[in-house]
Amino acid sequence: MYNAAVSKKQTHPTGISGCPECNGSGWIRLVKDGIAGVQRCDCFRQARVERLIVNARIPSRYTHCELKNFDLNEKLTTKSIEFAKLAAEAFVDEFPSSTPIGLLFMGPQGVGKTHLAVGIIKALMKRKAVPCMFRAFPELLKEIQMSYSPISESSELFLLAPVLETDVLVLDELGSQTPSTWVKDTVSYVLNHRYSENKVTIFTTNYLDGEDPMSTRKGVFYSLRDRIGDQMRSRLYEMCKTIVMAGNDFRQNIMDAEYRQFKKGR
Ligand SMILES: Nc1ncnc2c1ncn2[C@@H]1O[C@H](COP(=O)(O)OP(=O)(O)O)[C@@H](O)[C@H]1O
Ligand SMILES: [Mg+2]
Ligand SMILES: [Zn+2]
Repeated sequence: MYNAAVSKKQTHPTGISGCPECNGSGWIRLVKDGIAGVQRCDCFRQARVERLIVNARIPSRYTHCELKNFDLNEKLTTKSIEFAKLAAEAFVDEFPSSTPIGLLFMGPQGVGKTHLAVGIIKALMKRKAVPCMFRAFPELLKEIQMSYSPISESSELFLLAPVLETDVLVLDELGSQTPSTWVKDTVSYVLNHRYSENKVTIFTTNYLDGEDPMSTRKGVFYSLRDRIGDQMRSRLYEMCKTIVMAGNDFRQNIMDAEYRQFKKGR
């Protein structure tokens, strides 16, 4: 039987090249109830996941991050970090929920906010084939600024299009850049667009809503509200479940003998 789908797919492989099951075509011939037909080869799905992961633009320093290698240790992990991991897992299990609601991970440097955010989108791509994207907000703004020229105002939109359209977006380090009017406008453009399109966004920020009474870090306190403006902070309440993570910098914990013992004992 001549099958147009098969011959077309063979010239434009959709599976993994060199797959012994389908020779990279992504299709397998089969006979069911005496009728010849085709079905997707397993490598088709695998190739799709690989493409999603490449397109997600996860920076190499975070490619190791998975939900399953986010360690919890009773001596070093605080309750809020344990809760954050549970919330991340529940988010993946329940996706897509009937009311699209994102997550906002708040907490000091090094508690594992970015690790959890990356872990979530990797699980969504692998388990549910959801198109996802990772962008660090300060870098995104720099790219837009550099690409901007008075002749082509559209370059800004061209760069922002994938950020506006992807199903699940991680916006890392919200509030880290100097809150100029232009920065606040760009934040509100992205947030308002995703909000009105019912798209899910996962944010991380080193800023809190109020000063942490336990904090030993000295200096002038700035809240997330100070960094992105009142209106955008309120919009985030509507778009996200807020998850505050308190704890020490994980990179210092790695140096801790107790943690090394815990890793060895597994
Ligand atoms: N609970 C954890 N288990 C394993 N690795 C962790 C954990 N928390 C943080 N890390 C690692 O420590 C480093 C800093 O974490 P990161 O997520 O970048 O912190 P944050 O975004 O809160 O500043 C990363 O390499 C991350 O993979
Ligand atoms: Mg981070
Ligand atoms: Zn195959």
